[in-house]
Amino acid sequence: MQKSLIIIKPDAVQRGLCGDIIKRFENKGLKLAASKFMLVSRETAEKHYAVHKDKPFYEKVCKYLASSPVLVMVWRGKDAVELARRVIGATSPFEASPGTIRGDFSLSKTCNLVHGSDSVETAKYEIPLFFSEEEVLSYDLCTDDWLD
Ligand code: TYD
Repeated sequence: MQKSLIIIKPDAVQRGLCGDIIKRFENKGLKLAASKFMLVSRETAEKHYAVHKDKPFYEKVCKYLASSPVLVMVWRGKDAVELARRVIGATSPFEASPGTIRGDFSLSKTCNLVHGSDSVETAKYEIPLFFSEEEVLSYDLCTDDWLD
């Protein structure tokens, strides 16, 4: 089972797309393992995008992530990292396929609605930036245990 860090970024929160985006990961069959609605600090944004430190868009993307509240989540499942990336779509709105989150809703390469870890190793770096070990939950799907 893999885990992926997913962030519903400021533009998606402000456009009221949280429910739609969460539904797409649920539809795919991934399981929610952690969730936090929060304002990301500038320091955490810089750590999160550290791999892009020398890129021309680094300052812009850090400022954007820390600009207003985001919904940070961990989704778990078999091949969760790659599958979540497919649900999200390509970085550029021109390249993201219809049917993906970015293909259907995004207009910008920087403010592109959702983040998803790009590898299992990256997820292992990113998840602890936002969650303690205890906050990432593991549970069985009990189909009818809650029915009387
Ligand atoms: P990247 O990890 O390449 O994209 P993705 O989110 O699809 O994994 O880049 C991180 C973020 O940086 C990306 O979501 C938006 C921003 N970005 C730009 O603003 N301009 C660019 O040319 C690229 C490649 C990324």
